[in-house]
Amino acid sequence: MKTANLGKRTTRLLTGICFATLASASWSEPFKDVAPPHLKEFEEAMKLEPNIDNGRQLYKRYCITCHGPEGWGVAGSGYPQIAGQLKDVIIKQLADFRAGNRDNPIMRAFSSRRSLGGPQEIADVAAYISSLPMNPRNEKGFSLRVEEGRKLYQELCSDCHGERAEGDPKRHAPKLAGQHYSYLMRQFNWIRNGYRRNADKKMVEQIQEMTPSQQVAIMSYLSHLRPDNLAPEGWRNPDFDYFDRSWRPATLH
Ligand code: HEC
Ligand code: HEC
Repeated sequence: MKTANLGKRTTRLLTGICFATLASASWSEPFKDVAPPHLKEFEEAMKLEPNIDNGRQLYKRYCITCHGPEGWGVAGSGYPQIAGQLKDVIIKQLADFRAGNRDNPIMRAFSSRRSLGGPQEIADVAAYISSLPMNPRNEKGFSLRVEEGRKLYQELCSDCHGERAEGDPKRHAPKLAGQHYSYLMRQFNWIRNGYRRNADKKMVEQIQEMTPSQQVAIMSYLSHLRPDNLAPEGWRNPDFDYFDRSWRPATLH
C-alpha cells in the first residue's frame, strides 16, 4: 500500500512539474497541420507484422516495473492496466506520449527511442500487451450506481467506445471495460479539463455538461463490466513466473 501511495504522489509531483514546463513550451503548435515524423512512424507500426517474442523481451526490459508482470498496473494508483487493450490503441497512445501530446513525463521517457527504437519495436510490444488477459479483480467503483451508469453510458459513450465498452480500433477509442476505477476517473477528468491534448475533440464537447455524480455512475459501470478476455482467478503470467509480486496490490476490493 505504502509503495502504491508513494508511486501516486511521485507521479503527481512529476506530472505537476511537467505541466509547469509545458505551459511555456507549446509542443503541439508546430505540428498542427503536418503529421510529425514520429506520428508517421506510428502509422507504419500499425501496418507491420508484429514479433510477439521480441515484444515480450521489450516488455520485460522496459515496462514490467510499472505495469506489472501481468500488465494489470496497480489498482488505486496512477498505473493503468494495459493488458488486453486494443493493439491499435496502445500504438496510438505510445505515439502520443512520444510526440508530447499526452503529458506524462514517466511514459514520455519510457516510450522514447532509447526504449522502443522504431516502428517494429512499437508494433511488437503493443501486440504482446494486447495478447495478455485482463485482471479479474480490477479496482471497482460503486455497485449501487452501476445500473444508472449503464444507461448514461449507452446514451453518451457507446457510439464511440462500443456497446460493451470493448473499444473501436478505427477511431482509436480505447477499451474501457474492466479498467481500474480511479484511473478511469482521473483520465476522464483530464480529458474534460483539456490536460490530455490527444483527446478526441467530439468527446470533449459531449462530456462538458456531465455532473460529477453522473461521472461516478458511468465509471462504476465500466469498472464492473466483465470483458471477454478476463484471466481466470489467480492467473499469473507464466512468461514472468519469477517476478516478485509481493508488494503489488492487485486490487483494493
Ligand atoms: C516508470 C513507470 C512506467 C513505465 C516503465 C512504463 N509505463 Fe506506461 N504508464 C505509466 C503511467 C503512470 C501511465 C499513466 C499515464 C497517465 O496518467 O497519463 C502509463 C500509461 C501507459 C499507457 C496508456 C494506457 C491508457 O489506457 O491510457 C500505455 C499504452 C503504456 N503506458 C504502455 C507502456 C509500455 C509499452 C511501456 C514499456 C515500453 C511502459 N508503458 C512503461 C507508467 C509507466
Ligand atoms: C466521439 C467519440 C467519443 C465519445 C462520444 C466518447 N469518447 Fe471517450 N474517447 C474517445 C477517443 C477517440 C479516445 C482516445 C483519445 C486519445 O487518443 O487519447 C477516448 C478516450 C477515453 C478515455 C481514456 C481511456 C484511456 O485508457 O486512456 C476515457 C476514460 C473515456 N474516453 C471515457 C468516455 C466516456 C465515459 C464517454 C461518455 C460519457 C466517452 N468517453 C465518450 C472517443 C469518444
